[in-house]
Amino acid sequence: MTSDTNPHANRAGAASLPTTDWSRKPLRELIEHIVEQHHEYLREEMPAIEDRLELMTVKLGADVRGTLVPLLDVFTGMKNELDDHMRKEEMILFPFIERMEHSVEEGVPAAPPPFGTVRTPIQTMLIDHDSTFDALKQMRHLTNGYTLPGEDREAHEELYKGLEELESDLRIHIHLENDILFPRAQALESDAIR
Ligand SMILES: [Fe+2]
Ligand SMILES: [Fe+2]
Repeated sequence: MTSDTNPHANRAGAASLPTTDWSRKPLRELIEHIVEQHHEYLREEMPAIEDRLELMTVKLGADVRGTLVPLLDVFTGMKNELDDHMRKEEMILFPFIERMEHSVEEGVPAAPPPFGTVRTPIQTMLIDHDSTFDALKQMRHLTNGYTLPGEDREAHEELYKGLEELESDLRIHIHLENDILFPRAQALESDAIR
């Protein structure tokens, strides 16, 4: 893994778009990249942000703008959904795509999917992604586009920086799945031998 393909090579780089051309690489490599870079990042960062938000809610109580409590609510909902979502991708959809790719490469029949077609789990994942985008939008709205308040600026600065980085990372992550992995998996399915 080179630093130009790793959006977390440094913190400031989290928002930069990956330069690897994933439209040509084997899908198993793209899946590995998504899990190792983006899923692991979320599993590390989401609990840290949640802890920070909880602590701030306790420490600052009802903050002047009444932002923290609804923000925590939206964030926790998104975190729980994403934990569940990543588990479904890693346990069901991604292994199936890898098996399909292997079948096409080796010219051997693939076992029929328990869900009929790969479009079924993909459809569910797309709905989940829309829900994540909704949560990101709500959080931007609640924080007035991550504008720092007049008081407790330092505490908010760290929090907002973390949330904005998380948003940038999620946009890259979901782009890789929605626009590259899923369409390629659907195209692959028509080539797989039954
Ligand atoms: Fe994912
Ligand atoms: Fe996803």
